[in-house]
Amino acid sequence: MKLFLDTANLDEIQEANRWGVLRGITTNPTLVAKEGRDFLPLVKEICSIVEGDVSIETVGNDTDNLVRQGHEIAQIADNAIVKLSTTPNGLAACRRLSDEGIKINMTLCFTAAQAILCAEAGAYIVSPFLGRLDDISTDSLQVLSEICEIYAVQDYDTQVLAASLRHPMHVIEAARMGAHISTMPFKVFEMLVKHPLTDAGHKRFMDDWEEAKSHLGELLPSMQEA
Ligand code: G3P
Repeated sequence: MKLFLDTANLDEIQEANRWGVLRGITTNPTLVAKEGRDFLPLVKEICSIVEGDVSIETVGNDTDNLVRQGHEIAQIADNAIVKLSTTPNGLAACRRLSDEGIKINMTLCFTAAQAILCAEAGAYIVSPFLGRLDDISTDSLQVLSEICEIYAVQDYDTQVLAASLRHPMHVIEAARMGAHISTMPFKVFEMLVKHPLTDAGHKRFMDDWEEAKSHLGELLPSMQEA
């Protein structure tokens, strides 16, 4: 399962990229607006930092206009993916753009029925939102599991991207169910690596090393600099 960051913040993107595990980015109008920067240079820079897919969301709900935005977003960079809402007009735009070979991420998907429509409309990615379903006391993992099962049975090419993730358990469950991608805020990305036993164990090893190092004879040159 590929790990994406759900952000338009360059510092967060650069830091996660440095770890060597970042495979793509998802953005939305809220995340882009938060950065307070000019839209086009910002999304171009994001596309240049990350090798994988970068989803850039359309605005409005007129099919012809969504198709025009899709054409323009697809021109931004080779890895730019067009994000459309799962509405009737969004599906219509998805069909038209997908038929032209433009890659579409269908977002704001909350049910397996919507996910079937997205796949049938030719979407490259479908994005079920887990956290927002949990927020309204709906079992998001049940919905994700239905979508993964249906996509496997139907042999759909559309990738399942688990979105609106709030904690590492969402990421783990998405991986168990066979989601192709998980996207998450940077704070959840950081939570994936953090464990108190890792921190305590590392500190203990380093303390023991410092104490013993003068009696250990010849060390590797790089260890002397550590
Ligand atoms: O970008 C789509 C999605 O991941 C948004 O998540 O946390 O705003 O529900 P959230």
